[in-house]
Amino acid sequence: MTRSFAAARLSAVAAAALISAAMAVTDARAEGNLTIYCSVQEEWCQLMVNEFQKATGITVAMTRKSSGETFAQVKAEAANPKGDIWWGGTGDPHLQAAEEGLTEAYESSMLKDLNDWAVSQHKTGGGKTVGIYMGALGFGYSADVLKEKGVEGPKCWADLTKTDYKGEVQIANPNSSGTAYTFLATMVQILGEEDAFAYLKKLNGNVNQYTKSGAAPAQAASRGETLIGITFQHDLVTPAVTSDVPMVVVSPCEGTGFEVGSMSIIKGGPNPDNAKKWYDWALTPEAQALGAQANSFQVPSNKSAPIPEAAPKLSEIKLINYDFAKYGSSEERKRLLSRWDKEIGAAQ
Ligand code: G6P
Repeated sequence: MTRSFAAARLSAVAAAALISAAMAVTDARAEGNLTIYCSVQEEWCQLMVNEFQKATGITVAMTRKSSGETFAQVKAEAANPKGDIWWGGTGDPHLQAAEEGLTEAYESSMLKDLNDWAVSQHKTGGGKTVGIYMGALGFGYSADVLKEKGVEGPKCWADLTKTDYKGEVQIANPNSSGTAYTFLATMVQILGEEDAFAYLKKLNGNVNQYTKSGAAPAQAASRGETLIGITFQHDLVTPAVTSDVPMVVVSPCEGTGFEVGSMSIIKGGPNPDNAKKWYDWALTPEAQALGAQANSFQVPSNKSAPIPEAAPKLSEIKLINYDFAKYGSSEERKRLLSRWDKEIGAAQ
């Protein structure tokens, strides 16, 4: 092959590549757009978006925010919705959004493939939300940091108020974080409301920071910035799997609450058909298997999706009978958050 022939062939190949790249862009545009509000960990949000784009050619714009923050955004934008689908985050604010008419009912053909707890969320929300994963609340610490501090490891919710742990407990703010709201509602369900607020006041004396995002205290505990992090147990497993830190994950002795992580279509969003495509796709076993690849270890809602090996075993955890209809209702969530603001938030 002469030099000039080779060069001509190369530029023909390059031109063909350019043309097919341009066609791919046109194709993607032809499939349209989707705006997703994502309330799980960033790594999982990104992986879901990339795989959905590959599978459908739809161009996705994604914003990641905590569950309470996303609820507030969807509510603030209700007159002129900018998002199409809210994927992930704890179920309570999704139920509140359903009740307040911010989200749209949808009967996906995938519903028959889901676990009862996911379908039950769909029923409670009048068809406007559905369960995508489940996870239990707990707390954890690094065995190395515990040794350095020379204290005993806590086993029960009650232990967390001991003076040994002054300035050593971290949890998110329940206004921004669904995790922290789940904790608040769990303590109310275990202790009764008056005793729960007395407990939270005592605990406040040990809290070093109320973070914005629910999973942040698990990361902070793994870095030794706090001894104890209160989060979902699977969020404590993440640093255990991705680093050398010997994380200890505790299922509190009194029993614990849990989340049904949820998904809802935003009412009046700009791309309703693509929102349904995401919804159906996100309920497939293939899409649900992506969580573990992104180091998120919840139990998926599709009965055929693999349960990640590292996922905390829900059958071995003492779960309370969490009342989603009550604690996901607009009135109860608003009331508990405003009491928390007055009695705990204001005391910081
Ligand atoms: C983490 C957990 C999810 C949970 C979410 C809630 O991402 O892995 O299971 O739904 O936190 O986030 P938030 O910041 O609202 O507590």
